[in-house]
Amino acid sequence: MKTIRNSHKAIKDINIKVGNPSKYLRTLWAAINESCPELKDVLTEIEMELGYDPREDKVATLNSADESFNKTGAIGYYDQPLLISIADREWIDSEYNEFNELASYLESKPLFSSASSIYICGAGVCRMGDYVSSLENIKSVYCSDLSWLALYVGRMLIQREYHKLPTLFHAPRLFYQVSSDFNAISAQSLHAKFHPSSERTGKNIQYEVRDAFALIGPTPAELVCVPYLLDLFAGDQMKTLVTRICQSMEVGQQLLIISTLLFHPVGERNPQEIVQTLKTFGFEIDYLDIAQLPYTFSYYNYGARKETWNTLIVKATKYKQTHSRNLKLLTDAGKLGPVDEDTSLGDDVHITWQDRKIILSRNHFDVFQKCLSCVDYSDLYESFANKMTAEEFEHAIGALTSRSLLCLQAK
Ligand SMILES: C[S@@+](CC[C@H](N)C(=O)[O-])C[C@H]1O[C@@H](n2cnc3c(N)ncnc32)[C@H](O)[C@@H]1O
Repeated sequence: MKTIRNSHKAIKDINIKVGNPSKYLRTLWAAINESCPELKDVLTEIEMELGYDPREDKVATLNSADESFNKTGAIGYYDQPLLISIADREWIDSEYNEFNELASYLESKPLFSSASSIYICGAGVCRMGDYVSSLENIKSVYCSDLSWLALYVGRMLIQREYHKLPTLFHAPRLFYQVSSDFNAISAQSLHAKFHPSSERTGKNIQYEVRDAFALIGPTPAELVCVPYLLDLFAGDQMKTLVTRICQSMEVGQQLLIISTLLFHPVGERNPQEIVQTLKTFGFEIDYLDIAQLPYTFSYYNYGARKETWNTLIVKATKYKQTHSRNLKLLTDAGKLGPVDEDTSLGDDVHITWQDRKIILSRNHFDVFQKCLSCVDYSDLYESFANKMTAEEFEHAIGALTSRSLLCLQAK
């Protein structure tokens, strides 16, 4: 592979380490403009970083119109009510706080004591980052997520800059409860108040935007923690995500996965398969449990105060180097519909995949086309060795697997 080029961008000092940062920023700009227009200073900074006003960009307008159905897939959580629901479950200062229950569970278990640095993948609004940075043995913490906005909100909560949060974050929260005679529903309005962040001395948390399907190279920490990220995926795509995380890890690194085992209409989230995938990649299990822990998906939770699920907690250490490209490529050419390579739309290729319209950059489309006739990951890697850098190749695989166009399976 060719040498790695670095074209990273940053907004408000949060690094954006994705394959196409300009495209990410255009979509982020459109999402903030729609969901949090009061963050004017952020919009201005994005415009400056892009070097133009996205309103005047014909290609950007076309792309964002098409991607609007799938912005969450492109830039993670961005919608204010959704961000508030994850912020509340972790940060609300009341009995409804769910992270406190997870923290009590974690405190009694040997999960963080064996590391001094932690990389959190799918960190969301970062209460886990705040929690681990308060532990004495932890010297450095990275919070990473596909969502720049979630990390930005998380950093404001950690730094107790509540006044900078978008206005909806300050609105009273409504909780519904069914009366004991099951005859009425009462609404309890709670003033929005956040749990104070932990006191930590001289410890810096670093924040970075990364797609977990495209973690390139070893993650810069002894322990990689994946709290409730698998919950967004199921079936082959969930197994592919575990595979991608394992591929990015080196001998000696530890992995902690926390995931509800909820039924998902697209496919199973089978804990045996998760554990098996870890073993296939040379991990040895250090800790394994299925515990009842809460994860409520909305703060308007119609009756139940907290929704509690069987939750997998697995910690493992990679003890053996495995051939990380010894994988099968799974895709289904029959799902590919019309392809529009009209260059007036920019360097993007518009494809139809079943009933979904998807935009791929030219590079990613080239890799995808090759996948349709290739079954082996190593062969695919070799065939692009002289055409793109290893980083570009991994970003292409990230883009295809996160969109579920391609799945990976250990041989
Ligand atoms: C269910 S939330 C979990 C957040 C937090 N860890 C928690 O415990 O509530 C999932 C998070 O994953 C992020 N996410 C979605 N797709 C991602 C991807 N491909 N890579 C990294 N993060 C992703 C979302 O932006 C969101 O913050």
